[in-house]
Amino acid sequence: MDLQLTGRVAVVTGASKGIGLAVTRTLLDEGARVVAVSRKSGGELDALAGPNLLHVAADLMDPDAPGLAVERAVEVFGGLDVLVNNAGGPPPGADLPRFGFTTPTDDDWRDMFEFNLFAVVRALRAAIPHLLESDAASIVNVSSGNARHPGPMNFDYNAAKAALTNLTKGLSEEYAPQGIRVNTVSPGPVRTAWWTDEGGAADIIAGATGSDRDAVLERGAAEMMSLTTGRLVEPQEVADVIALLASPRSASTTGADFAVDSGFLKEI
Ligand SMILES: NC(=O)c1ccc[n+]([C@@H]2O[C@H](COP(=O)([O-])OP(=O)(O)OC[C@H]3O[C@@H](n4cnc5c(N)ncnc54)[C@H](OP(=O)(O)O)[C@@H]3O)[C@@H](O)[C@H]2O)c1
Repeated sequence: MDLQLTGRVAVVTGASKGIGLAVTRTLLDEGARVVAVSRKSGGELDALAGPNLLHVAADLMDPDAPGLAVERAVEVFGGLDVLVNNAGGPPPGADLPRFGFTTPTDDDWRDMFEFNLFAVVRALRAAIPHLLESDAASIVNVSSGNARHPGPMNFDYNAAKAALTNLTKGLSEEYAPQGIRVNTVSPGPVRTAWWTDEGGAADIIAGATGSDRDAVLERGAAEMMSLTTGRLVEPQEVADVIALLASPRSASTTGADFAVDSGFLKEI
């Protein structure tokens, strides 16, 4: 299927690793021009270098960063068609999962919302005037299955993602009539650095359950989260759905929330 993304301009946040890297690679493969935003580049992103890729080094915890990244995209590529707000998860310096409601402090809550919600709000504010100029504008916000299925951990993260999913629906109501489609993709646990790094989620769960990292990644996490496929999601599986939503082939899809979660959500 031709996603009709050739020459389209996309900004992808959190693009150096994990889901964002897979999205960047996929959009480039589809012929799009991509502005990849992260604090640092990295070997895998560097390997994609070419005339259609621009890396913008920016810390999205800085309130000016989202706007500067969007402006850079317009300056270099002449417009904007797609915004993928992918960066999120544990803010710099934090580790998830974090157990218990009383564990995160006020500062933890603030950082979580700064990274997962306010940075997105700022990117949206900067991007929307340019997206209104596009004849095929699409915003994809990467939320989480925990937005709709909270549990007794990561309270601050779950609440920030729930707000993002809610915000997305409202934006669709305002902007779909003006030609900008807005959707969320809500992953379940995805095999990214967040899970696999030393000290990452798999290690934290292993420590809490008396297991080890590999056992958590291969079986433990899937069992704990009742994943019906029995395994974590792969980043490319999320990226493929994001690419389809970015594409004009999804012209009638807006205000929707797509679970790519190995069967994590049980509600209809
Ligand atoms: N992995 C999961 O299990 C899972 C599940 C549900 C939802 N999600 C959501 O999926 C999205 C992507 O997660 P992921 O697991 O793919 O992430 P990841 O592999 O940990 O990658 C994070 C990306 O964000 C960038 N980043 C981190 N802090 C940043 C900052 N302050 N400013 C700019 N960029 C920053 C990182 O690059 P630098 O470090 O160089 O900045 C990297 O490119 C997030 O919104 C997350 O909430 C993930």
